[in-house]
Amino acid sequence: MKTQRLDKILSHHGYGSRKDAKKLLHKGFVLVNGQICSNADSPINIDTDTVTVDGTLLQLRHHVYLMLNKPSGIVCSTKDGIHKTVIDILPPQYRVSFLGGDVHPVGRLDIDTEGLLLLTTDGEMTHRLTSPKKHISKTYYLKLADNTDEKAQSYYKEQCEKGFAVPHEGNEDGFITQESALEWLNNSGDEALLTIYEGKYHQVKRMMQTLGNEVVYLKRVAVGSLYLDEMLKPGDCRELKPEEFDKLI
Ligand code: URA
Repeated sequence: MKTQRLDKILSHHGYGSRKDAKKLLHKGFVLVNGQICSNADSPINIDTDTVTVDGTLLQLRHHVYLMLNKPSGIVCSTKDGIHKTVIDILPPQYRVSFLGGDVHPVGRLDIDTEGLLLLTTDGEMTHRLTSPKKHISKTYYLKLADNTDEKAQSYYKEQCEKGFAVPHEGNEDGFITQESALEWLNNSGDEALLTIYEGKYHQVKRMMQTLGNEVVYLKRVAVGSLYLDEMLKPGDCRELKPEEFDKLI
């Protein structure tokens, strides 16, 4: 049974320090399963008990797992002095502390990249999905500046399969790409799906630049076998369904 002290739960849900939580309890603002509760150390079963504070029902969960269709112009961090962050655009119920901590993005997409971004409070999950050792696949839809003919299309595909050297960019080291998979989506050869198993800085853009082209639009469509729900408009998010969560573990 997963239990947590009531004052700790209140504090985790944005009701100040545990001392502040105790004051709320003593004032009779807190109901546990519909009954006023003033005991700071009451054990709360987060799976079965309900807690309301001044009429607001708390979402008692250790972790939350979200899929966001990240729009362009938003940065993938928790704080940024200039741009809006992916946290700023979440609905307010996800901008509070959960028992497992605060919601944070799983990895990064560039400011101008759109598409599937997972966000969670679960640090272990984040580590698992972003660790270079785990080789979790990431699939991107990309649009290129220049069309490519059949010969160039085969060349790009072969290079991706074999791996090739990408030069440094600014302070970022160059690297040899691991095997990746490129699937052309049209005959004019300017739209493709690229699946990579690593996540170097500006990886997809730098790969295409090295092959002599330029990415003009980039959207992540999948992480592992979890696909972006195309019903989500840019900026929309929703919690993962159990079967989607299972694809990540
Ligand atoms: N590769 C890029 O170049 N940018 C991203 O945002 C993700 C992958």
